[in-house]
Amino acid sequence: MMRGGPALRRPVSLLITIWLAAGCASAPPTASPSTPSSAGPSLVGASADPSASIGTTGGGVAPGSTPRPRDSLAESPSPGPTSSQPSGPVPSPSPNPSPSPNPSPSPSPGPTGGDEGGPLPACAYRDVPVVGDADTDWATTILDTTYRLPADFMPRDLVDTSKAGMNGGQQVSAAVIDDLRDMHQASIAAGAEIAVRWAYRSYYFQTVAFDHWVQVDGRLLALQVSARPGHSEHQLGTAIDFRSADSDKAPWDYPDWGTTPAGLWMAANAWRFGFILSYPKGMQAETCYGYEPWHYRYVGRDLAAAVHASGETLRRYLWEHDPVARLP
Ligand code: DAL
Ligand code: ZN
Repeated sequence: MMRGGPALRRPVSLLITIWLAAGCASAPPTASPSTPSSAGPSLVGASADPSASIGTTGGGVAPGSTPRPRDSLAESPSPGPTSSQPSGPVPSPSPNPSPSPNPSPSPSPGPTGGDEGGPLPACAYRDVPVVGDADTDWATTILDTTYRLPADFMPRDLVDTSKAGMNGGQQVSAAVIDDLRDMHQASIAAGAEIAVRWAYRSYYFQTVAFDHWVQVDGRLLALQVSARPGHSEHQLGTAIDFRSADSDKAPWDYPDWGTTPAGLWMAANAWRFGFILSYPKGMQAETCYGYEPWHYRYVGRDLAAAVHASGETLRRYLWEHDPVARLP
């Protein structure tokens, strides 16, 4: 794993400028300069947050939540993308997630283990460090509302998406490039060309994104559309938000991008190229987030084929099949 050091730091103003130009359902169109270091509710430990089970919609800060120490961004900022971001209209800050996911209490495992081989835990909001080395175990690292990456984690081998022969200005881990190139070419051949809207996001970007959604929609709704910093698959460098190549329109600005030619083609074929839809429709109780037809995670062709054949969500599959991904 590469740790972001001083040489990799970017001025906050530059990061926000880049970000404003990009937009994302998980990356808000506006951000106050004070946002990155603003205090928020504590999310450490299941008992610290009564809203720990997803399933409540509506705005507002969860009752009983407590102030969180200021984020340590000043001490360990993650570097942002080094190249320009996609242009296009600023996205609507209204992700409109489907309500309700998880009515049951969360019997999530404790941070020191004890649940090996048990059922998939409910979507509790905790901050348990990922197990293993996310730099080498990127395909099987579970990142959900429980597991998180360190603030200074960044993939060591980020490359521009233009290396896959498609639109550039975004970064992915080098391991993604060959299959991304093949998938792009196949989408063209099918008359449903895809493009990249957003790929790697640093811990810092995710911090601003999540705080934005909290401000716009309230914390309970934000939790359903945006990962808390450290919990986003985008920080792994292997998750991509796709859009249709025939328009700059963000996928979340469609009523349902999954019903567009590109969205339908991806749903049917992405697994063949090693990509799995992380947050399918109607599965929020398992995936911990609302339906995101644009958000795919690269896990490699073999694992993607196995996940596809299982019919399971990626989170469930990893929990059930990869003991390394479980708590120690
Ligand atoms: N929108 C997804 C959950 C993220 O923020 O990574
Ligand atoms: Zn995404």
